[in-house]
Amino acid sequence: MITNAQKIQPAEGKIGVLLVGMGAVSTTFIAGVELIRKKHSKAIGAMTQIGHIRLGKRTESKNPLIKDFIPLADLEDLVFAVWDIFPDNAKKAAKKAGVLSNEDIDKVGEFLEKISPMKAVFDQNFVKNIQGGNIKTETNKMALAEALMKDMEEFKNKNKLSRLVVIWCASTESYIAPSDAHQSLEKFELALKNSDSSIAPSMIYAYAALKIGVPFCNGAPNLTLDIPALQELALEKHVPISGKDFKTGQTLMKTILAPGFKARYLGLSGWFSTNILGNRDGEVLDDPGSFKSKEESKLGVLDTILQPEIYPELYGNIYHKVRINYYPPRGDNKEGWDNIDIFGWMGYPMQVKVDFLCRDSILAAPLVLDLILFTDFAQRAGLRGIQDWLSFYYKSPMTTPNLSPEHNIFVQEMKLKNTLRYLMGEERITHLGLEYYE
Ligand SMILES: NC(=O)c1ccc[n+]([C@@H]2O[C@H](COP(=O)([O-])OP(=O)(O)OC[C@H]3O[C@@H](n4cnc5c(N)ncnc54)[C@H](O)[C@@H]3O)[C@@H](O)[C@H]2O)c1
Repeated sequence: MITNAQKIQPAEGKIGVLLVGMGAVSTTFIAGVELIRKKHSKAIGAMTQIGHIRLGKRTESKNPLIKDFIPLADLEDLVFAVWDIFPDNAKKAAKKAGVLSNEDIDKVGEFLEKISPMKAVFDQNFVKNIQGGNIKTETNKMALAEALMKDMEEFKNKNKLSRLVVIWCASTESYIAPSDAHQSLEKFELALKNSDSSIAPSMIYAYAALKIGVPFCNGAPNLTLDIPALQELALEKHVPISGKDFKTGQTLMKTILAPGFKARYLGLSGWFSTNILGNRDGEVLDDPGSFKSKEESKLGVLDTILQPEIYPELYGNIYHKVRINYYPPRGDNKEGWDNIDIFGWMGYPMQVKVDFLCRDSILAAPLVLDLILFTDFAQRAGLRGIQDWLSFYYKSPMTTPNLSPEHNIFVQEMKLKNTLRYLMGEERITHLGLEYYE
């Protein structure tokens, strides 16, 4: 009998990691991987590096490292390339981002200096608050997509890579709703040729990657892959896709706390969330268009966790507000406050206050690593289209139409690990446990 595990291609050869955008998240990720490879640091927060998975019964004590259980690419096999609208190399960009100490950056300075961004596909209509000169000049959107395909192919050939993965770590684009040009691949390709204004730069990158069989992950709340045209292309080319918007900071806390209130049937009347941050992401989000993309992505999480339609008396009337304030002195060290108004027995009110002094990119970097390695694994395992099991990593997980996303982080983790068990031909763990008492 052929098990699922036997059908998975081995992780042979080098894998090219193409990052769109080389700001705080990308530089923290790349520098971190190199520091870990040089044994200067540890991959805290990355399931693929330090996570274990239970196999079999609780009594069997079988808990291998995930990277020993599934065939994952090794950190040593990752080769990086980036696109950005600014020409700075990765060392300069890391220093500008101000996340890592100069001491840490300098330890891998020579390595970072060698990574210079390729020219970006950029459109000021989608990101208002920044301007840069490292931009492709093709005048037609299809020609821009073809130029990106050429970049990817040259990178692959030059470095003798066996596989590629693209991940969007660039600025949040202005909110747009799906339109007619997004509804089928045929319409989308025509719109590319006509340089239709509804095609965002992130969609051009995604199209270029999928068209040549390269998987794409979306770390920002842009519409990007959430359109029938690109989902059709992913299926046609047998490519995994996932998104959107890395789940870090305040939303991470929300999806940890809300399942707890729900599990105890505590009611919720209000959740007020506000943030101050001073990095370039904060500057971009100061524009109302980009903020609207972020707001949509942040507001969505409570409804599917709390199910107000089933529990109207507990969650039918919640005042949920999210604010992001650009405050330069803080840099990447965001502070997120949550005031949560809950109620218990007989409706008596209580409050929970959270003050999370987090580091945005320190929380995001391990997610980038896991997404790249799991996406590459997914492709070798023959998975294609939307990867629902990677919802764990996203604020606003993509799902097939008419299926509500899963936001509860504990369910997401179980789903991810059960997917790995399933793909490797191991029994799924339901936590039923009756057999221990038979
Ligand atoms: N840090 C987090 O915790 C976190 C969490 C969720 C989502 N995100 C999202 O990840 C993205 C990156 O965050 P960051 O803090 O690194 O932002 P950043 O502003 O530091 O970096 C973004 C980079 O993208 C570049 N860029 C913009 N448009 C581009 C284009 N079309 N092509 C190529 N490069 C382009 C910018 O020049 C900039 O260098 C943002 O969209 C952010 O909203 C971050």
